This record gives sequence, C-alpha cells and structure tokens, in this order.
Amino acid sequence: MSESAASSEFEAAFHKAAERHERVWVFVAILMLTLLLAGTMFIVVYAYGVVVRTDGFRRDPAAIEAPEGSIEKTGPNAYTVTMVARLWRWSPSPLRIPKGATVTFRVTSADVLHGFAIQGTTVNVTAVPGITGSVSYTFNRPGTFNIVCNEYCGLEHQGMLGRIVVEGDPA
Ligand code: CUA
Repeated sequence: MSESAASSEFEAAFHKAAERHERVWVFVAILMLTLLLAGTMFIVVYAYGVVVRTDGFRRDPAAIEAPEGSIEKTGPNAYTVTMVARLWRWSPSPLRIPKGATVTFRVTSADVLHGFAIQGTTVNVTAVPGITGSVSYTFNRPGTFNIVCNEYCGLEHQGMLGRIVVEGDPA
C-alpha cells in the first residue's frame, strides 16, 4: 500500500468518525438547550408563579365594571383592587391601605396598552384593554409607593403616575 493511499484511507475514516461525533454533539446541544428552556419555563411559571393570569379575554374595554377602579376588603387585611389605566392616569389613586395588607390587583386598561409597575416592589403587569391581569403583593412596610407606567402610551406617558399610601400601625 502506498503512503498516499494509506493517508487518504485514514482521512476518510477520520471524516466519517468526525461527522458522526458532530451529529451526536449537535443533537446533545439541542437537547440541552431544550431542557434548559423547558426547565426555566417550568420554574418561572410553577415555582415562582410569574405568570399573568387572565380571568377574561377580549371584553369590550369600554365595558369595565368599575371605570374608576374599586377597592374591596376580602379578608382581615386583604383587599382586591381593580386598577384601571387610561390616558394618562391610574384609578384609584392615591390608594390608601394599612401596613401588612395583601392586595390582589386586577389590572386593566380603558384605552391603550399601559404598564402597571409599583416602584420598590416586584409588581409589574401590562394593562391590556379588554383583558384583566391579576397580581398579588403584600405591603409589609409603611410609606408611599409610586405607580409608574412602563409601557409607552403617548404624549403624557412619563407623567402617568399613581400613588399607593401604606399607612403604619395606629399609635
Ligand atoms: Cu400609560 Cu405609559
């Protein structure tokens, strides 16, 4: 066998093996990415509950039950607040609640997309016309919290502010 024939035979075998390894590892990489994505989604949705639960789809935005929002006491220190976004304000605002209150915000919009974010908390829900998003938060320290709109909504977007006043224990 000549030297060049041996080397080309070796090359052919090498390429065959390399291609097999390449296919296997591309498959392994895709599998790992798929598992990583699925695992992340699972943890985010089920362990942390970071998902906007919608309790109604495609209602007429004009048909909001409480156009100026509402606050309802649902437990010893629990409230359900319907928070309505519109160009360019939040209702109800200022919202007064006692320290330690657990508030379930039902967030919707009367016109266009807005973003409901409470500074200094983890609350951040998009206010979508016709859809009600739901998020709960417990206010453990007294003080004033700003509601900001974090979804561009036109001319006065940056001025679309609201306030939540968490009142301390009565002395
Ligand atoms: Cu509302 Cu930006």
